[in-house]
Amino acid sequence: MKILNFGSLNIDYVYAVEHMIAPGETLASSGMSIFCGGKGLNQSIALAKAGVPVYHAGLVGEEGAPLLEACRESGVNGKYIRTISGRSGHTIIQVDRDGQNCILLYGGANRKFTKEYVDEVLGDFEAGDMILLQNEVNLLDYIIDSAYAKKMTVVLNPSPYDSALESCDFGKVAMLLLNEIEGGQITGEEEPENILEKLRELYPETKIVLTLGKNGAVYQYKDERYYQDIYKVKAVDTTAAGDTFTGYFLSSAVEGMSVPEGLALAAKASALAVSRKGAADSIPLRREVMENGRQMQSPM
Ligand code: RIB
Repeated sequence: MKILNFGSLNIDYVYAVEHMIAPGETLASSGMSIFCGGKGLNQSIALAKAGVPVYHAGLVGEEGAPLLEACRESGVNGKYIRTISGRSGHTIIQVDRDGQNCILLYGGANRKFTKEYVDEVLGDFEAGDMILLQNEVNLLDYIIDSAYAKKMTVVLNPSPYDSALESCDFGKVAMLLLNEIEGGQITGEEEPENILEKLRELYPETKIVLTLGKNGAVYQYKDERYYQDIYKVKAVDTTAAGDTFTGYFLSSAVEGMSVPEGLALAAKASALAVSRKGAADSIPLRREVMENGRQMQSPM
């Protein structure tokens, strides 16, 4: 079974701020860094660092060389990534003193997918292969439909939420990994319990992984439920914590680990990511997760 992640690659411009800037305010930042990121790239890197081979497909613009280098360095197979004219996707990220972030996204090359490009890449994959997707690229509905028609296993992180998701058939998704805000936006519910119930009702064949911020995460499939608390760390930068969780949980599923083991592994990996600066750079190696995981305080 091969794994393909068809997703975004961004250059993240990260500004350290005392507080998130308010409308009309001018605010001096106390530091600025440039990192490789994008939900797609971060999740590919998390899979690769967890030890699972992954192909990444996506588009970068003229300044995309560092994104290609990040793939090479972390062991992501980037043979399907194309460089096109125009700008790469990028973000402006504010990180406050509590490590919380605010992200302004410019799609750039990530939104220049064509059906021909999608068809060409998918042509190299077959029934039983897995495809991982997020919502930072265009043609998401087309990619889901095409991969499902080929009998690939579709895994979706519907993030960030926007109206493009309304044309996606979540019934074709084998596993949905989302946070409670996205869960609320998709179901119209507020409470995690209601979100889970509604998702089960709407998509009875879909495995759900709902992350709940400080309250951990829940896995649900039909009548089966598992809960995972977070591991406590000092938050430096929460960027890519969710992507780390997604990549590591998926790696556990691919390796055949049990759901509780996979949730614990993903929670440890994302806690380590939160304790470090940046997006792709903050994602730990499997070895680091195993070493640090032993010393981590037991879940809160
Ligand atoms: O999930 C974190 C990512 O979201 C960042 O790396 C940024 O690029 C945005 O896409």
